[in-house]
Amino acid sequence: MRILRSFVLIITLVFSFQAIANEGMWLPQLLERLNEKEMKSLGMKISARDIYNVNSGSLKDAIVSFNGNCTGSIISTKGLVLTNHHCGFDVIQNHSTLDKNYIRDGFWANNLSEELANPKLYVTFIVRIDDVTKQVLTGVTAEMTERERQSIIDKNMNEIGKTAKKETSQDVMIKGFFEANQYYLFVTETYRDVRLVGAPPSSIGNFGKDTDNWMWPRHTGDFSIFRIYAGKDNKPAPYSADNVPYVPKKSLPISIDGVAEGDFTLVFGFPGKTMEYTHSAFIQQTLNVVDPAKVAIRTKALFVIDSFMRKDEQIKIKYAAKYANVSNAWKKWQGEILGLNRTNAVNQRRAYEAEFQKRVNANPVWKSQYGQLLPDLEAVYSEIGPLGLARDYFTEITNRVELFAIHRRLSALRNARINGGKNDYSQALINIKDTLTDLYAEYNPALDRRLFEVLIEMYVSDQDGKILSPVLLERVRAAGNDYKKLATEIYGGSEMTAGPKVLAALEKDPTDMLERIQNDKVSLLIADIVDSYNKNTTARLNEVQSKLNQLQRTYMRAQLEVMKEKKFYPDGNSTLRVTYGSVRGMAARDGVKYDPYTYLDGVMEKYVPGDYEFDVPKRLQQLYRNKEFGQYGKNGKMPVCFIGTNHTTGGNSGSPALDAYGNLVGLNFDRAWEGVMSDIHYDPSICRNIMVDVRYVLFIVDKYAGAGHLVKEMKLVHPKVR
Ligand code: ARG
Ligand code: GLU
Repeated sequence: MRILRSFVLIITLVFSFQAIANEGMWLPQLLERLNEKEMKSLGMKISARDIYNVNSGSLKDAIVSFNGNCTGSIISTKGLVLTNHHCGFDVIQNHSTLDKNYIRDGFWANNLSEELANPKLYVTFIVRIDDVTKQVLTGVTAEMTERERQSIIDKNMNEIGKTAKKETSQDVMIKGFFEANQYYLFVTETYRDVRLVGAPPSSIGNFGKDTDNWMWPRHTGDFSIFRIYAGKDNKPAPYSADNVPYVPKKSLPISIDGVAEGDFTLVFGFPGKTMEYTHSAFIQQTLNVVDPAKVAIRTKALFVIDSFMRKDEQIKIKYAAKYANVSNAWKKWQGEILGLNRTNAVNQRRAYEAEFQKRVNANPVWKSQYGQLLPDLEAVYSEIGPLGLARDYFTEITNRVELFAIHRRLSALRNARINGGKNDYSQALINIKDTLTDLYAEYNPALDRRLFEVLIEMYVSDQDGKILSPVLLERVRAAGNDYKKLATEIYGGSEMTAGPKVLAALEKDPTDMLERIQNDKVSLLIADIVDSYNKNTTARLNEVQSKLNQLQRTYMRAQLEVMKEKKFYPDGNSTLRVTYGSVRGMAARDGVKYDPYTYLDGVMEKYVPGDYEFDVPKRLQQLYRNKEFGQYGKNGKMPVCFIGTNHTTGGNSGSPALDAYGNLVGLNFDRAWEGVMSDIHYDPSICRNIMVDVRYVLFIVDKYAGAGHLVKEMKLVHPKVR
């Protein structure tokens, strides 16, 4: 048995050292050097230069970061942007009322004048990417403290930013890669007049809702369509009725031939955050402590929100986006726990560390530099463990209970009034009025009170009293440990929960209100909860975190140096990346094999009349019965979603999936349950990304919504006659 086990270990080790096709989120400017050969061997017919080229229009010019947290792609010469329904959700919701409910019924503009403006929505293009590692690290030495190092880096970055070549409409951003061992500069261009063009009803765009979320087989038409508007010079311009549709450097051709199992696919977008090169102790903490704690907190929060949403249609609209957000990560963390366990991630990482240590020990130079790294990391992880947990309790709970956010804004405003100059104060007033207007528009005090009751109880009973707020503990005692009573006192005694009153006061002179609020018992309590956390946790956490950052950076550098045969890609950090792989089903578990494709038949199989998650619009049923699929169907069936081995994460939502010729064939929106641990530990056998087939998107636009004029704007092609 033991021999068998070590044999298995060696095999896994050998495998994880090989360049595993499909793992990795690669920098587009380095594809030619690092990936092109492999991409071609997987079937790609275009070149790395077709994907990224600063001198002429390339595919990257058709990709945008959508509102800072998703991806979009340009699909017409008049600036149409395709992204996910869940990426446009907030915006669609903001345009919705009880009688014009675009979330429920969908929305389609019949012409330009019907497209809906969205004050805060923006998209960002990447103009150019430069390696600025040398310049950023000039003057940095190994002996510096983290703080000294950071201050030099900040100064250098500031300088580089000022001198970088760019047009006036463009911006510069510099980001660290490989744990800040490398730095790249991005010249970007941001458009802020982005209008809603079309969205299916959520019974299509969010079909299956939370039950199907993170799951395969999937049947969701998760898309929405926007349009970028520009000034007459085609440059970014703030919203104006005179703005015109943006003319892009590049728009994606769309293939309606589809792809089949084994075909090459490429996903181009902005993956948010991965942690692929961490110590096994990190995986262990995530798995055993952090994820379970956050899941437990959100389970309670979701139960509260759900019970209010079910009772009241108005609350349902107000809280829909919030609920979806909270439940999304909640579900993912549960999948992450399962996946990390199932793939033995901790042991695999330990085996990797053992190999690293062996090589380091065998080389005297490495040994003196890196010999202590792993034990040091392990020690810092055990130090940071309880602090990190306290942080997660604090952030999870104070982010759910919105009284904290209201208090934070109002005390910031009071601060600006007392300590800031006149300009600071009037600017703060404008900003805070704005955020609070948004917040109260989607706020229900009774719901918030119930969240307070349930979550503050967890906050107190799960944690060591020594790190908690004495004022809070005293009030809990005074209420006889009755959290309902406490919540009622708090919410009954607070002016802050009365949105219209607060906003009215902000319109006039809010001085009196700010002083009253500052000194009432509720604020004193909230302030003490926050202060105690900062005093007992944040200060210490920052210290340990800075030690950890330093060690992680060295460990990353060491891995690059020591594990030479491994192909390294930088962790996701919300910058533009290319991931590639193939359309591929998978063996999900014993006796269960997944096909790579789903069809409209599956939508009808899941159909539950009138259901909150699985209702199907009448019109879609009719199209299905009559097989009215137009040019989008295949062999009498309507393809809906497919899976592939592309390595994606949050932020890749809305990313286009391209075929071997660079044609749009799908729209990334999710990952399959079995493999959502890929942010920490990618396993090619069970990690799959989920895409909507673009033919389903076009079918819904054209046949379901009757918005064929939009399809006419696009360029439909067949890959064989490229
Ligand atoms: N899981 C996908 C992502 O991480 C889709 C989320 C939106 N859908 C939902 N039912 N919440 O964003
Ligand atoms: N739905 C995710 C997003 O919003 C993408 C899925 C994932 O995490 O892979 O970006």
